[in-house]
Amino acid sequence: MKKNIGSKLALYSMPITVIGAMNGDKPTWTLVGHLGIIGHDRVMVSLAAPHFINGKIKETKKLSINLVDENLLPQADFVGFASGNKTDKSQAFSYEIGEAGAPVISNSPLTLECSVADIYETLNFESYICTIDNTYVDTQHLGADGKINYNTLKPVLFEFPTYQYLKTGDVIGKCLTFKNDIVST
Ligand SMILES: Cc1cc2nc3c(=O)[nH]c(=O)nc-3n(C[C@H](O)[C@H](O)[C@H](O)COP(=O)(O)O)c2cc1C
Repeated sequence: MKKNIGSKLALYSMPITVIGAMNGDKPTWTLVGHLGIIGHDRVMVSLAAPHFINGKIKETKKLSINLVDENLLPQADFVGFASGNKTDKSQAFSYEIGEAGAPVISNSPLTLECSVADIYETLNFESYICTIDNTYVDTQHLGADGKINYNTLKPVLFEFPTYQYLKTGDVIGKCLTFKNDIVST
């Protein structure tokens, strides 16, 4: 039996990321869990309008989306607490400048470097619709076939209702093979 608990933001768990943008010649970083995939060529990053990083993204039209693994979690949690409005967060991670000009966290297992194509505004929020310029993957997670190995790349997940971090689990099957059980019955 299921119970209707009303209109809830309940679509979790989802990967946690650190968004990076350049603030002059320094980076700034913000922890973000609310992001998504739009079609096959756009991603979306949802940011509260008062956040410091928003102005920097609007200035440069570039941002990076850095997946967080367990090693990176302490610094990632810090940039989800401190705001660039009061604290200089530029030293939180070692980084390089990506080919498109966004800051790329050196120790993140996977980084998307993005250009802002549009901003979708809702009450108190700005959702940045982005195209993907470059994808940087730690080679330990890259197979000989050039594909990312999600058996080894384990992003930290989060959920908003009780504000917790979670681990990803094991592979439980290949997509589109379960249908065979249904089709054959
Ligand atoms: C687990 C976690 C997830 C978060 N997810 C988001 C998010 O999806 N969108 C958002 O705007 N802020 C999110 N935040 C809050 C920002 O990271 C936080 O307010 C940060 O200090 C803003 O930094 P800034 O003002 O320097 O941009 C999250 C914080 C935590 C701890």
